[in-house]
Amino acid sequence: MWKCAVLVYLVASFVGGDRSDVLIDIEGSSWLQNEHLGEMIDHSFEGSRCCNVFVKGDNRALFRQFIELYGHDYTLGAINRKCYAYFLLAKDPAHLIAGIAKIPTIIALTQILVIVDAEITENSRLFNVSFYKNANVNIISRSGMWSLSEMFLRPRIFKNVVRPSDMRHSRGIVNLEGRQLQVATFYVPPLSYLSTSDNKTVEQVEGEFFSSNNPLEWDGVEVKLFMMMAKRLNFTWMIRKPNGGYRYGRARNSTWEGGMIGQLFRKEVDLAFGGIWFMHDPYRYVNLSVPWYQVSIHFLVPRPQPITNFWALTRPITVHVWIAVVTTVIVQSLHVWVKAWINPKVPSRFRSFANTLTELIGRLVGLWAPQKTDGLRVQLHLWHFAGLLIVTAYCSSLAARLTTPDYENRIDTPDQFLKTNLTWGREGPIPKFDDYFEEKYREKMMRKFKSEKSLDDRKEKIDRGNYAIVGRIINCIFFPENDVSASDLRSDERTFRKILPLIRDSALACVVTQ
Ligand SMILES: *[C@@H]1O[C@H](CO)[C@@H](O)[C@H](O)[C@H]1NC(C)=O
Ligand SMILES: *[C@@H]1O[C@H](CO)[C@@H](O)[C@H](O)[C@H]1NC(C)=O
Ligand SMILES: *[C@@H]1O[C@H](CO)[C@@H](O)[C@H](O)[C@H]1NC(C)=O
Ligand SMILES: *[C@@H]1O[C@H](CO)[C@@H](O)[C@H](O)[C@H]1NC(C)=O
Ligand SMILES: *[C@@H]1O[C@H](CO)[C@@H](O)[C@H](O)[C@H]1NC(C)=O
Ligand SMILES: *[C@@H]1O[C@H](CO)[C@@H](O)[C@H](O)[C@H]1NC(C)=O
Repeated sequence: MWKCAVLVYLVASFVGGDRSDVLIDIEGSSWLQNEHLGEMIDHSFEGSRCCNVFVKGDNRALFRQFIELYGHDYTLGAINRKCYAYFLLAKDPAHLIAGIAKIPTIIALTQILVIVDAEITENSRLFNVSFYKNANVNIISRSGMWSLSEMFLRPRIFKNVVRPSDMRHSRGIVNLEGRQLQVATFYVPPLSYLSTSDNKTVEQVEGEFFSSNNPLEWDGVEVKLFMMMAKRLNFTWMIRKPNGGYRYGRARNSTWEGGMIGQLFRKEVDLAFGGIWFMHDPYRYVNLSVPWYQVSIHFLVPRPQPITNFWALTRPITVHVWIAVVTTVIVQSLHVWVKAWINPKVPSRFRSFANTLTELIGRLVGLWAPQKTDGLRVQLHLWHFAGLLIVTAYCSSLAARLTTPDYENRIDTPDQFLKTNLTWGREGPIPKFDDYFEEKYREKMMRKFKSEKSLDDRKEKIDRGNYAIVGRIINCIFFPENDVSASDLRSDERTFRKILPLIRDSALACVVTQ
């Protein structure tokens, strides 16, 4: 009996190559050694605690062997979607393919172990990679073992493996094995400072590729993040500018036109970064990564200036007091004038109303006080006293006001921004306002937008005043969307200080696509 088994085994190895683990099933026992199958299950279903089983035909021995070695829960005849492990066992590849069709292979967590209880060749339909989409797959047959290469490296291929340990999937550790990825970004401080570029044609698409040798250009938060990703995931890259006149592009019906999102959409690039807002619109066209930071649009607005206004002299006392004072002066003058006509003792100069008015005002402010006041002495003393009180109150209030100058209204909120006469702008394409502002401000902020033609244009607008500079704050530092020279911001009178916060909250994301 033993001789026979060894002979058959030798014949089998001659036909199928190196299969030290395969034994021919002679007495209803399995052709797979327990030890080997156990190791294959461990590698194929690493980390799984339950699995879905699909068995077709009479394979009781293999099935029993699998269940014993696996040792966790399993579901037979149905699919438990909470379990990502799938075990398939049959003789006929057609049955197996029917089973695979029911598996949600689009989910990259899916782990599939197929045992074909027959001999298969390299051109079997089972090796059609398109069945498996993103799943991890190992296939064991009587004629050999195969493992499907990782889902992140396209095209995927089935590799013939010799040892069960070669069936291990690289869980969570992506290694792109030095593949070259096409990437898009542009000059968007502080995220990317790349600016020097050359024109080249790569894969029949013309592009402007960044080529600077200046290490300062290879700076920027997202550039650094990207470099770390490249190192970790082991890929090389070529970085190009967005095309089509836009930075991110615009959604047009069913396509995306221009910009980095457009390049991703047309699959000209694999990855893009550079201040991409995590928003619904691009999400419909390309897959976005998780956001890495939360930023919002900010405006740098001119610092409120002190108000210099002649009428500020009237401020120390209120309008009511002014009215009361003027009325009292007129009434008092009338009274003295009438009294001068009735009472002969009152000096005759009071018979002129103009004289009376002038003298009473002079006495009120303490400037002019002729001594001859027969018949009016008490009344005029009281008048002097009232004048003293009013003048003292006015002067002290004025002095207090002069030491704390008046300022223009502050600009802290979008509503205050809209009430002022500020305009804002940027160079390049007109922004997509719905990306910038909440709906209630969109229309009004749009009306205040004036495109900048150049750096000089921007400088002139800042110099003229009434101009807000748009940008974002990262780590407490304000970064304008376009370059602004420090001298523009410091020129006296026009110090830009205030930062108008939160028009729209959003997060930055990298865009990754397959
Ligand atoms: C692989 O399967 C797909 C359908 O899923 C089919 O269109 C394609 O022709 C098959 N390829 C081969 C080489 O059989
Ligand atoms: C990166 O990929 C290359 C090419 O396949 C390989 O030689 C190298 O060992 C990989 N590096 C790492 C750290 O895996
Ligand atoms: C590259 O091409 C663009 C137009 O596609 C052009 O504006 C630019 O000047 C070119 N750059 C160089 C360095 O030739
Ligand atoms: C695409 O959208 C434009 C407006 O943006 C519209 O005029 C045009 O009819 C649309 N085309 C299609 C094919 O839907
Ligand atoms: C995003 O990725 C998922 C899974 O890979 C895919 O089904 C979907 O079509 C992708 N979305 C876009 C817009 O490409
Ligand atoms: C706002 O500024 C414009 C010119 O920039 C001027 O014509 C307009 O009168 C100003 N409006 C107010 C309310 O100051």
